[in-house]
Amino acid sequence: MKLLAFSTSLRDGSFNHKLIELAARIARRDGAEVDLADFHEFDMPLYDADMNREEGLPHGALALERRILNADALLIATPEYNYSMSGVFKNAIDWVSRARPMPWRGKAIYLMSASPSAMGGIRGLWQTRVPLEGCGALVFPDMFALPHSDKAFDQDGNLADRENAKRLEVELLGFIRMAEALAPICAKRLTGTARQKQREIVAALEEESKIQPAS
Ligand SMILES: Cc1cc2nc3c(=O)[nH]c(=O)nc-3n(C[C@H](O)[C@H](O)[C@H](O)COP(=O)(O)O)c2cc1C
Repeated sequence: MKLLAFSTSLRDGSFNHKLIELAARIARRDGAEVDLADFHEFDMPLYDADMNREEGLPHGALALERRILNADALLIATPEYNYSMSGVFKNAIDWVSRARPMPWRGKAIYLMSASPSAMGGIRGLWQTRVPLEGCGALVFPDMFALPHSDKAFDQDGNLADRENAKRLEVELLGFIRMAEALAPICAKRLTGTARQKQREIVAALEEESKIQPAS
């Protein structure tokens, strides 16, 4: 199982970065291969349809597209800004959504958020899943919101609260099991019944993508 993991915060000392590092450690312990990316690697301009038409996707969006295509599933930790999702991440979703075939389509995603507030960023996560699901991603029903993130981590980067730590581990491993079940369906080279099933799924998803032509 190949996982792409990143936090969408660009802040030095980001709590979401601490959370994604912890999630990556748990996933690796479970046997997954984790590509832990720094979102600075995906630096890109604000979405501009003229630029898209004249120049195609910018370097950062192409880099993100390649990393998504190379993964079976994704772990994402993303902050809540003003009761909603991160603008940095929405911009990246929009750019990458203009690539064909749609890179998000069929990718299993586990969403997390960390915030010093009592809400832990859960409102932002509900907003974040909307464009991802609109792009055909399979967002795990459970999402992990970590409240009081400024006090939540111990010196080793683990969660100090045992219940929170247990919840993260149970959800994350549950997500990985689901992603493993989906990966053969979404994989590129299949044979027999699995190949036929994949064709049917891809056909159904492609039908939907015609509503939003590439340009
Ligand atoms: C522009 C802005 C808006 C914010 N809005 C919210 C919010 O609506 N809810 C919340 O829980 N925290 C909010 N915060 C606080 C962030 O959760 C906090 O800065 C957090 O540390 C950001 O994540 P990071 O540590 O990964 O950078 C906001 C922060 C900024 C900079």
